[in-house]
Amino acid sequence: MQIFPSFAVLLLIGHKLPGSFACTVDLARSHCTCSFADLKNFYKFLVCMDASVFEFRDGNFEDLSDISRYTQTLRILAPNLELPIDKIILGNSVLDENFLKMFLDVTQNVKIRELVFEDCIFTGRAEWRSMKGTLPQMRSLQFVNVSSASLTDRGEDFSYLSSWIAQVENFVLTRSQITQIPRSISMHFKDLRVLDLSENGLQDQGVSGSFSDGLFFNLMTLKLRHNNLTSFDVACKALSQLPNLQDSDLSQNNFAMPPSSPCEWPPSTRLLNLSDTGLEHVNAHLLPPSTEVLDLSYNQLSVLDVSLPHLKKVYLSNNRLLSFPSSNNLPDLEILFLDGNRITHFPKDQLQTFKHLSILKADQNPYNCTCSVVNEMKELSNRSLEVQQWPEGYFCDSPSVYKGQQVKEVECSVSEGHKPLFITIISVVIVLVYIVPGEDSLFCFI
Ligand SMILES: *[C@@H]1O[C@H](CO)[C@@H](O)[C@H](O)[C@H]1NC(C)=O
Ligand SMILES: *[C@@H]1O[C@H](CO)[C@@H](O)[C@H](O)[C@H]1NC(C)=O
Ligand SMILES: *[C@@H]1O[C@H](CO)[C@@H](O)[C@H](O)[C@H]1NC(C)=O
Ligand SMILES: *[C@@H]1O[C@H](CO)[C@@H](O)[C@H](O)[C@H]1NC(C)=O
Ligand SMILES: *[C@@H]1O[C@H](CO)[C@@H](O)[C@H](O)[C@H]1NC(C)=O
Repeated sequence: MQIFPSFAVLLLIGHKLPGSFACTVDLARSHCTCSFADLKNFYKFLVCMDASVFEFRDGNFEDLSDISRYTQTLRILAPNLELPIDKIILGNSVLDENFLKMFLDVTQNVKIRELVFEDCIFTGRAEWRSMKGTLPQMRSLQFVNVSSASLTDRGEDFSYLSSWIAQVENFVLTRSQITQIPRSISMHFKDLRVLDLSENGLQDQGVSGSFSDGLFFNLMTLKLRHNNLTSFDVACKALSQLPNLQDSDLSQNNFAMPPSSPCEWPPSTRLLNLSDTGLEHVNAHLLPPSTEVLDLSYNQLSVLDVSLPHLKKVYLSNNRLLSFPSSNNLPDLEILFLDGNRITHFPKDQLQTFKHLSILKADQNPYNCTCSVVNEMKELSNRSLEVQQWPEGYFCDSPSVYKGQQVKEVECSVSEGHKPLFITIISVVIVLVYIVPGEDSLFCFI
Protein backbone atom coordinates (compact mmCIF):
# COMPACT_ATOMS: atom_id res chain seq x y z
CA MET A 1 0.00 0.00 0.00
CA GLN A 2 1.32 3.37 -0.97
CA ILE A 3 0.68 5.86 1.84
CA PHE A 4 0.47 9.59 1.38
CA PRO A 5 1.95 11.75 4.20
CA SER A 6 -1.31 13.35 5.28
CA PHE A 7 -2.84 9.91 5.37
CA ALA A 8 0.01 8.57 7.55
CA VAL A 9 -0.68 11.24 10.14
CA LEU A 10 -4.34 10.30 10.20
CA LEU A 11 -3.40 6.65 10.60
CA LEU A 12 -1.29 7.44 13.66
CA ILE A 13 -4.07 9.44 15.26
CA GLY A 14 -6.47 6.64 14.43
CA HIS A 15 -4.44 4.02 16.24
CA LYS A 16 -4.67 6.04 19.45
CA LEU A 17 -8.46 6.16 19.45
CA PRO A 18 -9.90 3.28 21.51
CA GLY A 19 -12.49 1.14 19.79
CA SER A 20 -11.97 2.91 16.53
CA PHE A 21 -12.08 -0.20 14.33
CA ALA A 22 -15.65 -0.92 13.40
CA CYS A 23 -15.59 -2.36 9.92
CA THR A 24 -15.02 -6.11 9.94
CA VAL A 25 -12.67 -8.05 7.79
CA ASP A 26 -12.54 -11.79 7.09
CA LEU A 27 -9.67 -14.01 8.20
CA ALA A 28 -7.86 -13.65 4.90
CA ARG A 29 -8.16 -9.84 5.37
CA SER A 30 -9.49 -9.61 1.83
CA HIS A 31 -13.25 -9.03 2.29
CA CYS A 32 -14.15 -5.95 4.32
CA THR A 33 -17.70 -5.25 5.49
CA CYS A 34 -18.78 -1.85 6.83
CA SER A 35 -21.99 -0.10 7.47
CA PHE A 36 -22.21 3.23 5.71
CA ALA A 37 -22.40 4.85 9.15
CA ASP A 38 -18.86 3.56 9.77
CA LEU A 39 -17.70 5.62 6.85
CA LYS A 40 -18.64 8.84 8.61
CA ASN A 41 -15.83 8.05 11.00
CA PHE A 42 -12.88 7.55 8.82
CA TYR A 43 -10.81 5.58 11.40
CA LYS A 44 -13.29 2.75 11.50
CA PHE A 45 -12.20 1.88 8.03
CA LEU A 46 -8.49 1.47 8.75
CA VAL A 47 -8.72 -2.24 9.49
CA CYS A 48 -9.65 -2.74 5.85
CA MET A 49 -6.77 -1.03 4.13
CA ASP A 50 -5.40 -4.28 2.70
CA ALA A 51 -8.72 -5.69 1.53
CA SER A 52 -9.65 -6.17 -2.13
CA VAL A 53 -13.40 -6.65 -1.68
CA PHE A 54 -15.40 -3.92 0.06
CA GLU A 55 -18.98 -4.24 1.15
CA PHE A 56 -20.87 -1.18 2.39
CA ARG A 57 -24.31 -1.77 3.84
CA ASP A 58 -27.35 -0.09 5.36
CA GLY A 59 -27.05 3.39 3.97
CA ASN A 60 -29.80 5.89 3.50
CA PHE A 61 -28.80 8.58 1.08
CA GLU A 62 -32.02 10.33 0.49
CA ASP A 63 -30.57 13.30 2.30
CA LEU A 64 -28.19 15.04 -0.07
CA SER A 65 -26.19 16.74 2.69
CA ASP A 66 -25.18 13.26 3.92
CA ILE A 67 -23.62 12.54 0.58
CA SER A 68 -20.98 15.23 0.82
CA ARG A 69 -19.82 13.90 4.21
CA TYR A 70 -19.11 10.49 2.71
CA THR A 71 -17.50 12.07 -0.30
CA GLN A 72 -14.91 13.58 2.02
CA THR A 73 -13.97 10.20 3.50
CA LEU A 74 -13.94 8.44 0.16
CA ARG A 75 -11.72 11.12 -1.34
CA ILE A 76 -9.08 10.52 1.33
CA LEU A 77 -9.35 6.74 1.14
CA ALA A 78 -9.48 6.14 -2.58
CA PRO A 79 -5.83 6.91 -3.45
CA ASN A 80 -4.55 4.77 -0.55
CA LEU A 81 -6.23 1.50 -1.36
CA GLU A 82 -4.57 -1.48 -2.98
CA LEU A 83 -5.37 -1.38 -6.67
CA PRO A 84 -7.08 -2.69 -8.61
CA ILE A 85 -10.04 -3.26 -6.30
CA ASP A 86 -11.65 -6.63 -7.00
CA LYS A 87 -15.15 -5.78 -5.95
CA ILE A 88 -17.26 -3.11 -4.30
CA ILE A 89 -20.67 -4.17 -3.01
CA LEU A 90 -23.26 -1.61 -1.98
CA GLY A 91 -25.99 -3.44 -0.11
CA ASN A 92 -29.35 -2.89 1.53
CA SER A 93 -29.45 0.83 0.97
CA VAL A 94 -31.54 3.64 -0.35
CA LEU A 95 -29.33 5.47 -2.81
CA ASP A 96 -30.04 8.81 -4.36
CA GLU A 97 -28.74 8.93 -7.91
CA ASN A 98 -26.54 11.80 -6.80
CA PHE A 99 -24.71 9.34 -4.57
CA LEU A 100 -24.01 7.15 -7.58
CA LYS A 101 -22.76 10.19 -9.44
CA MET A 102 -20.52 11.19 -6.54
CA PHE A 103 -19.24 7.63 -6.33
CA LEU A 104 -18.30 7.57 -10.00
CA ASP A 105 -16.66 10.93 -9.58
CA VAL A 106 -14.54 9.88 -6.58
CA THR A 107 -13.47 6.62 -8.19
CA GLN A 108 -12.36 8.30 -11.40
CA ASN A 109 -9.36 6.46 -12.82
CA VAL A 110 -9.63 3.78 -10.11
CA LYS A 111 -9.66 0.25 -11.48
CA ILE A 112 -12.56 -1.65 -9.96
CA ARG A 113 -13.20 -5.07 -11.46
CA GLU A 114 -16.75 -5.51 -10.20
CA LEU A 115 -19.34 -3.11 -8.84
CA VAL A 116 -22.40 -4.69 -7.22
CA PHE A 117 -25.64 -3.13 -6.00
CA GLU A 118 -27.67 -5.56 -3.92
CA ASP A 119 -31.07 -4.95 -2.29
CA CYS A 120 -31.00 -1.25 -3.14
CA ILE A 121 -33.60 1.33 -3.97
CA PHE A 122 -32.53 4.14 -6.28
CA THR A 123 -34.26 7.45 -5.76
CA GLY A 124 -34.00 10.93 -7.18
CA ARG A 125 -32.48 11.96 -10.43
CA ALA A 126 -28.98 13.27 -10.96
CA GLU A 127 -27.84 15.87 -13.45
CA TRP A 128 -25.67 13.56 -15.54
CA ARG A 129 -25.02 16.19 -18.16
CA SER A 130 -22.38 17.71 -15.87
CA MET A 131 -20.52 14.41 -15.48
CA LYS A 132 -16.97 14.97 -16.62
CA GLY A 133 -13.55 13.38 -16.35
CA THR A 134 -12.61 9.79 -16.88
CA LEU A 135 -15.12 7.33 -15.57
CA PRO A 136 -13.87 4.32 -13.59
CA GLN A 137 -12.94 1.25 -15.56
CA MET A 138 -15.22 -1.64 -14.72
CA ARG A 139 -15.61 -4.95 -16.43
CA SER A 140 -18.54 -6.19 -14.37
CA LEU A 141 -21.60 -4.34 -13.20
CA GLN A 142 -24.31 -6.05 -11.17
CA PHE A 143 -27.72 -5.03 -9.88
CA VAL A 144 -29.47 -7.64 -7.75
CA ASN A 145 -32.91 -6.92 -6.30
CA VAL A 146 -32.89 -3.21 -7.04
CA SER A 147 -35.70 -0.87 -7.88
CA SER A 148 -35.82 2.57 -9.41
CA ALA A 149 -38.17 4.87 -11.24
CA SER A 150 -38.89 3.85 -14.82
CA LEU A 151 -35.87 3.88 -17.11
CA THR A 152 -37.81 4.30 -20.33
CA ASP A 153 -37.16 8.02 -20.77
CA ARG A 154 -33.56 8.01 -19.53
CA GLY A 155 -31.80 7.61 -22.86
CA GLU A 156 -30.19 11.06 -22.70
CA ASP A 157 -28.80 10.48 -19.21
CA PHE A 158 -27.29 7.19 -20.26
CA SER A 159 -25.64 8.84 -23.24
CA TYR A 160 -23.48 10.84 -20.80
CA LEU A 161 -22.38 7.55 -19.26
CA SER A 162 -21.80 5.77 -22.52
CA SER A 163 -17.99 5.79 -22.34
CA TRP A 164 -18.29 4.00 -18.99
CA ILE A 165 -20.98 1.53 -20.02
CA ALA A 166 -19.24 0.70 -23.29
CA GLN A 167 -16.42 -1.00 -21.33
CA VAL A 168 -18.68 -3.27 -19.34
CA GLU A 169 -18.32 -6.91 -20.40
CA ASN A 170 -20.48 -8.55 -17.76
CA PHE A 171 -23.84 -7.05 -16.84
CA VAL A 172 -26.14 -8.64 -14.28
CA LEU A 173 -29.62 -7.29 -13.60
CA THR A 174 -31.59 -9.87 -11.65
CA ARG A 175 -34.61 -10.03 -9.31
CA SER A 176 -35.60 -6.50 -10.25
CA GLN A 177 -38.98 -6.86 -12.02
CA ILE A 178 -37.49 -5.83 -15.36
CA THR A 179 -39.89 -6.31 -18.28
CA GLN A 180 -37.55 -5.17 -21.06
CA ILE A 181 -34.36 -3.22 -21.67
CA PRO A 182 -35.11 -0.01 -23.52
CA ARG A 183 -33.12 0.34 -26.69
CA SER A 184 -31.95 3.80 -25.62
CA ILE A 185 -30.02 2.06 -22.83
CA SER A 186 -28.96 -1.22 -24.40
CA MET A 187 -27.35 0.55 -27.36
CA HIS A 188 -24.56 1.80 -25.04
CA PHE A 189 -23.45 -1.71 -24.02
CA LYS A 190 -21.16 -2.04 -27.00
CA ASP A 191 -18.79 -4.67 -25.67
CA LEU A 192 -21.07 -6.81 -23.57
CA ARG A 193 -20.18 -10.52 -23.43
CA VAL A 194 -22.36 -11.77 -20.58
CA LEU A 195 -25.91 -10.59 -19.83
CA ASP A 196 -27.86 -12.06 -16.94
CA LEU A 197 -31.52 -11.03 -16.68
CA SER A 198 -32.66 -13.96 -14.53
CA GLU A 199 -35.64 -13.74 -12.18
CA ASN A 200 -37.33 -10.74 -13.73
CA GLY A 201 -40.71 -10.26 -15.41
CA LEU A 202 -39.63 -10.44 -19.05
CA GLN A 203 -42.46 -11.49 -21.33
CA ASP A 204 -42.31 -12.60 -24.96
CA GLN A 205 -42.83 -9.07 -26.18
CA GLY A 206 -40.08 -7.68 -23.94
CA VAL A 207 -37.61 -10.24 -25.24
CA SER A 208 -38.31 -9.61 -28.88
CA GLY A 209 -37.98 -5.85 -28.28
CA SER A 210 -34.73 -6.15 -26.33
CA PHE A 211 -32.71 -8.24 -28.77
CA SER A 212 -32.99 -6.97 -32.29
CA ASP A 213 -31.28 -4.90 -34.96
CA GLY A 214 -27.67 -5.55 -34.06
CA LEU A 215 -27.97 -4.78 -30.33
CA PHE A 216 -25.60 -6.81 -28.11
CA PHE A 217 -23.58 -7.86 -31.13
CA ASN A 218 -20.75 -9.42 -29.10
CA LEU A 219 -22.94 -11.18 -26.56
CA MET A 220 -21.79 -14.73 -25.82
CA THR A 221 -23.79 -15.67 -22.74
CA LEU A 222 -27.44 -14.80 -22.12
CA LYS A 223 -29.37 -15.89 -19.03
CA LEU A 224 -33.14 -15.47 -19.05
CA ARG A 225 -33.85 -18.02 -16.30
CA HIS A 226 -37.11 -17.66 -14.41
CA ASN A 227 -38.88 -14.99 -16.40
CA ASN A 228 -42.38 -14.91 -17.88
CA LEU A 229 -41.61 -16.28 -21.33
CA THR A 230 -44.32 -18.46 -22.86
CA SER A 231 -43.36 -18.82 -26.51
CA PHE A 232 -40.41 -20.93 -27.57
CA ASP A 233 -40.78 -19.53 -31.10
CA VAL A 234 -40.49 -15.91 -29.95
CA ALA A 235 -37.54 -16.63 -27.65
CA CYS A 236 -35.70 -18.48 -30.39
CA LYS A 237 -36.36 -15.77 -32.93
CA ALA A 238 -35.04 -13.10 -30.57
CA LEU A 239 -31.92 -15.07 -29.70
CA SER A 240 -31.22 -15.87 -33.32
CA GLN A 241 -30.39 -12.15 -33.74
CA LEU A 242 -27.30 -12.55 -31.57
CA PRO A 243 -24.63 -13.77 -33.98
CA ASN A 244 -22.01 -14.69 -31.34
CA LEU A 245 -24.24 -16.30 -28.75
CA GLN A 246 -22.79 -19.49 -27.25
CA ASP A 247 -24.60 -20.11 -23.96
CA SER A 248 -28.32 -19.55 -23.48
CA ASP A 249 -30.20 -20.21 -20.29
CA LEU A 250 -33.97 -20.21 -20.81
CA SER A 251 -34.71 -22.47 -17.85
CA GLN A 252 -37.70 -21.99 -15.56
CA ASN A 253 -39.91 -20.36 -18.13
CA ASN A 254 -43.12 -21.92 -19.36
CA PHE A 255 -43.04 -22.96 -23.00
CA ALA A 256 -46.19 -25.02 -22.69
CA MET A 257 -47.43 -23.62 -25.99
CA PRO A 258 -46.10 -26.14 -28.52
CA PRO A 259 -43.41 -24.65 -30.74
CA SER A 260 -44.71 -24.31 -34.29
CA SER A 261 -42.01 -23.08 -36.63
CA PRO A 262 -38.45 -24.36 -37.12
CA CYS A 263 -35.95 -22.45 -35.07
CA GLU A 264 -32.75 -20.86 -36.38
CA TRP A 265 -30.33 -20.77 -33.49
CA PRO A 266 -27.08 -18.87 -33.95
CA PRO A 267 -24.56 -21.42 -35.33
CA SER A 268 -22.23 -20.45 -32.45
CA THR A 269 -24.59 -22.04 -29.88
CA ARG A 270 -22.79 -24.46 -27.57
CA LEU A 271 -24.92 -24.66 -24.45
CA LEU A 272 -28.69 -24.53 -24.23
CA ASN A 273 -30.52 -24.76 -20.94
CA LEU A 274 -34.22 -25.63 -21.30
CA SER A 275 -34.58 -27.13 -17.85
CA ASP A 276 -38.05 -26.81 -16.29
CA THR A 277 -39.78 -25.18 -19.27
CA GLY A 278 -42.85 -27.43 -19.56
CA LEU A 279 -41.68 -29.08 -22.79
CA GLU A 280 -43.53 -32.24 -23.82
CA HIS A 281 -41.82 -32.79 -27.17
CA VAL A 282 -38.65 -31.65 -28.82
CA ASN A 283 -37.67 -32.35 -32.37
CA ALA A 284 -34.72 -31.71 -34.62
CA HIS A 285 -36.14 -28.38 -35.81
CA LEU A 286 -36.13 -26.93 -32.32
CA LEU A 287 -32.62 -27.62 -31.09
CA PRO A 288 -29.39 -26.10 -32.36
CA PRO A 289 -27.39 -28.75 -34.27
CA SER A 290 -24.13 -27.26 -32.98
CA THR A 291 -25.00 -27.70 -29.31
CA GLU A 292 -22.54 -29.52 -27.06
CA VAL A 293 -24.34 -29.22 -23.73
CA LEU A 294 -28.10 -29.57 -23.48
CA ASP A 295 -30.15 -29.38 -20.31
CA LEU A 296 -33.70 -30.71 -20.75
CA SER A 297 -34.21 -31.79 -17.15
CA TYR A 298 -37.52 -31.28 -15.31
CA ASN A 299 -39.75 -31.43 -18.40
CA GLN A 300 -42.39 -33.91 -19.60
CA LEU A 301 -40.46 -35.59 -22.40
CA SER A 302 -41.24 -39.22 -23.11
CA VAL A 303 -38.76 -39.61 -25.97
CA LEU A 304 -35.63 -37.86 -27.16
CA ASP A 305 -35.44 -38.68 -30.81
CA VAL A 306 -33.18 -35.96 -32.21
CA SER A 307 -29.84 -36.16 -33.91
CA LEU A 308 -27.22 -33.86 -32.38
CA PRO A 309 -23.83 -34.86 -33.76
CA HIS A 310 -21.77 -32.61 -31.45
CA LEU A 311 -23.63 -33.21 -28.22
CA LYS A 312 -21.28 -34.12 -25.36
CA LYS A 313 -23.42 -33.66 -22.26
CA VAL A 314 -27.15 -34.16 -21.98
CA TYR A 315 -29.20 -33.69 -18.83
CA LEU A 316 -32.54 -35.51 -19.08
CA SER A 317 -33.22 -35.91 -15.37
CA ASN A 318 -36.81 -35.86 -14.19
CA ASN A 319 -38.73 -36.48 -17.41
CA ARG A 320 -40.95 -39.39 -18.46
CA LEU A 321 -38.48 -41.29 -20.62
CA LEU A 322 -39.03 -45.02 -20.96
CA SER A 323 -35.75 -45.81 -22.68
CA PHE A 324 -32.22 -44.66 -23.33
CA PRO A 325 -31.57 -42.35 -26.30
CA SER A 326 -29.88 -43.89 -29.30
CA SER A 327 -26.16 -43.59 -29.89
CA ASN A 328 -26.78 -43.17 -33.63
CA ASN A 329 -28.34 -39.81 -32.84
CA LEU A 330 -25.75 -38.79 -30.26
CA PRO A 331 -22.43 -40.24 -31.42
CA ASP A 332 -20.21 -37.90 -29.38
CA LEU A 333 -21.99 -38.24 -26.06
CA GLU A 334 -19.77 -38.28 -22.96
CA ILE A 335 -22.16 -37.53 -20.13
CA LEU A 336 -25.73 -38.82 -19.85
CA PHE A 337 -28.09 -37.98 -16.98
CA LEU A 338 -31.31 -39.99 -16.92
CA ASP A 339 -32.24 -40.06 -13.23
CA GLY A 340 -35.90 -39.68 -12.24
CA ASN A 341 -37.43 -41.18 -15.38
CA ARG A 342 -39.41 -44.36 -16.13
CA ILE A 343 -36.58 -46.54 -17.30
CA THR A 344 -36.80 -50.21 -16.29
CA HIS A 345 -33.44 -51.57 -17.43
CA PHE A 346 -29.95 -50.77 -18.76
CA PRO A 347 -29.76 -51.83 -22.39
CA LYS A 348 -26.21 -53.16 -22.21
CA ASP A 349 -25.66 -53.63 -25.95
CA GLN A 350 -27.02 -50.19 -26.72
CA LEU A 351 -24.88 -48.57 -24.05
CA GLN A 352 -21.76 -50.13 -25.49
CA THR A 353 -22.38 -48.36 -28.79
CA PHE A 354 -21.77 -44.97 -27.14
CA LYS A 355 -18.08 -44.80 -27.92
CA HIS A 356 -17.23 -41.82 -25.71
CA LEU A 357 -19.64 -42.24 -22.82
CA SER A 358 -17.79 -41.85 -19.53
CA ILE A 359 -20.43 -40.79 -17.00
CA LEU A 360 -23.94 -42.17 -16.59
CA LYS A 361 -26.44 -41.16 -13.92
CA ALA A 362 -29.65 -43.15 -13.94
CA ASP A 363 -30.77 -43.50 -10.33
CA GLN A 364 -34.40 -43.04 -9.21
CA ASN A 365 -35.83 -45.15 -12.03
CA PRO A 366 -38.30 -48.07 -11.59
CA TYR A 367 -35.95 -50.94 -12.39
CA ASN A 368 -37.40 -54.30 -13.31
CA CYS A 369 -35.08 -56.59 -11.41
CA THR A 370 -35.10 -59.71 -13.54
CA CYS A 371 -31.82 -61.48 -13.21
CA SER A 372 -30.51 -60.48 -16.60
CA VAL A 373 -31.18 -56.81 -15.76
CA VAL A 374 -29.57 -57.09 -12.34
CA ASN A 375 -26.49 -58.82 -13.70
CA GLU A 376 -26.08 -56.37 -16.54
CA MET A 377 -26.37 -53.43 -14.19
CA LYS A 378 -23.80 -54.89 -11.81
CA GLU A 379 -21.50 -55.61 -14.68
CA LEU A 380 -21.81 -52.14 -16.22
CA SER A 381 -21.11 -50.44 -12.95
CA ASN A 382 -17.84 -52.36 -12.92
CA ARG A 383 -16.56 -51.02 -16.23
CA SER A 384 -14.64 -47.85 -17.01
CA LEU A 385 -18.02 -46.12 -17.23
CA GLU A 386 -18.64 -44.07 -14.10
CA VAL A 387 -22.17 -44.88 -12.93
CA GLN A 388 -23.11 -42.07 -10.55
CA GLN A 389 -25.12 -42.73 -7.38
CA TRP A 390 -24.47 -46.45 -7.78
CA PRO A 391 -25.42 -48.44 -5.81
CA GLU A 392 -27.31 -46.28 -3.30
CA GLY A 393 -29.73 -44.68 -5.79
CA TYR A 394 -30.81 -47.70 -7.82
CA PHE A 395 -33.87 -49.61 -6.61
CA CYS A 396 -36.11 -52.37 -7.95
CA ASP A 397 -39.73 -51.53 -8.67
CA SER A 398 -40.67 -54.96 -9.97
CA PRO A 399 -41.08 -57.89 -9.68
CA SER A 400 -43.05 -57.39 -6.48
CA VAL A 401 -40.80 -59.68 -4.45
CA TYR A 402 -37.88 -57.27 -4.93
CA LYS A 403 -39.82 -53.99 -4.83
CA GLY A 404 -37.95 -51.35 -2.83
CA GLN A 405 -34.75 -53.40 -2.69
CA GLN A 406 -31.44 -51.99 -3.88
CA VAL A 407 -30.54 -53.46 -7.31
CA LYS A 408 -27.06 -54.34 -6.12
CA GLU A 409 -28.46 -56.34 -3.19
CA VAL A 410 -30.54 -58.64 -5.39
CA GLU A 411 -28.88 -62.07 -5.41
CA CYS A 412 -29.33 -63.99 -8.60
CA SER A 413 -28.41 -67.66 -8.38
CA VAL A 414 -27.51 -69.42 -11.65
CA SER A 415 -30.82 -71.23 -11.66
CA GLU A 416 -32.83 -68.02 -11.40
CA GLY A 417 -30.70 -66.22 -13.89
CA HIS A 418 -31.23 -68.71 -16.68
CA LYS A 419 -34.54 -70.25 -15.84
CA PRO A 420 -35.54 -71.57 -19.28
CA LEU A 421 -32.13 -73.14 -19.85
CA PHE A 422 -32.10 -74.59 -16.36
CA ILE A 423 -35.50 -76.21 -16.84
CA THR A 424 -34.41 -77.68 -20.17
CA ILE A 425 -31.30 -79.21 -18.60
CA ILE A 426 -33.26 -80.69 -15.69
CA SER A 427 -35.79 -82.19 -18.10
CA VAL A 428 -33.08 -83.76 -20.20
CA VAL A 429 -31.37 -85.21 -17.13
CA ILE A 430 -34.62 -86.69 -15.88
CA VAL A 431 -35.34 -88.21 -19.26
CA LEU A 432 -31.80 -89.61 -19.51
CA VAL A 433 -31.98 -91.07 -15.99
CA TYR A 434 -34.98 -93.05 -17.10
CA ILE A 435 -33.59 -93.99 -20.52
CA VAL A 436 -30.13 -95.18 -19.61
CA PRO A 437 -30.90 -98.26 -17.45
CA GLY A 438 -32.69 -99.96 -20.34
CA GLU A 439 -35.76 -100.04 -22.50
CA ASP A 440 -37.79 -101.76 -19.82
CA SER A 441 -37.52 -98.91 -17.43
CA LEU A 442 -38.43 -96.48 -20.20
CA PHE A 443 -41.62 -98.35 -20.81
CA CYS A 444 -42.31 -98.32 -17.08
CA PHE A 445 -41.86 -94.54 -17.05
CA ILE A 446 -44.24 -94.02 -19.91
C1 LIG B 1 -34.90 -6.76 -1.82
O1 LIG B 1 -34.47 -5.48 -1.42
C2 LIG B 1 -35.33 -4.83 -0.47
C3 LIG B 1 -34.75 -3.48 -0.17
O2 LIG B 1 -34.59 -2.77 -1.32
C4 LIG B 1 -35.41 -5.66 0.79
O3 LIG B 1 -36.31 -5.09 1.70
C5 LIG B 1 -35.86 -7.08 0.44
O4 LIG B 1 -35.82 -7.88 1.59
C6 LIG B 1 -34.95 -7.67 -0.61
N1 LIG B 1 -35.50 -8.97 -1.01
C7 LIG B 1 -34.79 -10.09 -0.91
C8 LIG B 1 -35.48 -11.34 -1.36
O5 LIG B 1 -33.65 -10.11 -0.47
C1 LIG C 1 -45.57 -13.34 -14.65
O1 LIG C 1 -46.55 -14.34 -14.76
C2 LIG C 1 -47.25 -14.59 -13.57
C3 LIG C 1 -48.16 -15.77 -13.81
O2 LIG C 1 -48.62 -15.81 -15.11
C4 LIG C 1 -48.01 -13.34 -13.17
O3 LIG C 1 -48.69 -13.56 -11.96
C5 LIG C 1 -47.03 -12.21 -12.99
O4 LIG C 1 -47.72 -11.03 -12.72
C6 LIG C 1 -46.22 -12.03 -14.25
N1 LIG C 1 -45.22 -11.02 -13.99
C7 LIG C 1 -45.05 -10.00 -14.79
C8 LIG C 1 -43.99 -9.03 -14.38
O5 LIG C 1 -45.70 -9.85 -15.80
C1 LIG D 1 -29.80 -25.08 -16.08
O1 LIG D 1 -30.51 -24.22 -15.22
C2 LIG D 1 -30.78 -24.74 -13.94
C3 LIG D 1 -31.55 -23.70 -13.16
O2 LIG D 1 -32.75 -23.40 -13.77
C4 LIG D 1 -29.49 -25.08 -13.24
O3 LIG D 1 -29.76 -25.69 -11.99
C5 LIG D 1 -28.69 -26.05 -14.11
O4 LIG D 1 -27.43 -26.29 -13.48
C6 LIG D 1 -28.47 -25.46 -15.48
N1 LIG D 1 -27.82 -26.47 -16.33
C7 LIG D 1 -26.61 -26.33 -16.89
C8 LIG D 1 -26.09 -27.43 -17.73
O5 LIG D 1 -25.94 -25.33 -16.71
C1 LIG E 1 -40.10 -57.18 -16.29
O1 LIG E 1 -39.41 -57.97 -17.24
C2 LIG E 1 -40.05 -59.21 -17.53
C3 LIG E 1 -39.14 -60.03 -18.45
O2 LIG E 1 -38.69 -59.25 -19.52
C4 LIG E 1 -41.41 -58.93 -18.16
O3 LIG E 1 -42.07 -60.14 -18.40
C5 LIG E 1 -42.24 -58.10 -17.18
O4 LIG E 1 -43.46 -57.75 -17.76
C6 LIG E 1 -41.48 -56.84 -16.80
N1 LIG E 1 -42.21 -56.12 -15.78
C7 LIG E 1 -42.45 -54.82 -15.84
C8 LIG E 1 -43.22 -54.23 -14.71
O5 LIG E 1 -42.07 -54.18 -16.80
C1 LIG F 1 -16.94 -56.31 -10.08
O1 LIG F 1 -15.60 -56.14 -9.69
C2 LIG F 1 -15.29 -56.71 -8.41
C3 LIG F 1 -13.87 -56.36 -8.04
O2 LIG F 1 -13.10 -56.07 -9.16
C4 LIG F 1 -15.50 -58.23 -8.49
O3 LIG F 1 -15.23 -58.82 -7.23
C5 LIG F 1 -16.94 -58.50 -8.87
O4 LIG F 1 -17.15 -59.91 -9.05
C6 LIG F 1 -17.32 -57.79 -10.17
N1 LIG F 1 -18.76 -57.93 -10.38
C7 LIG F 1 -19.29 -58.22 -11.57
C8 LIG F 1 -20.79 -58.33 -11.60
O5 LIG F 1 -18.62 -58.34 -12.59
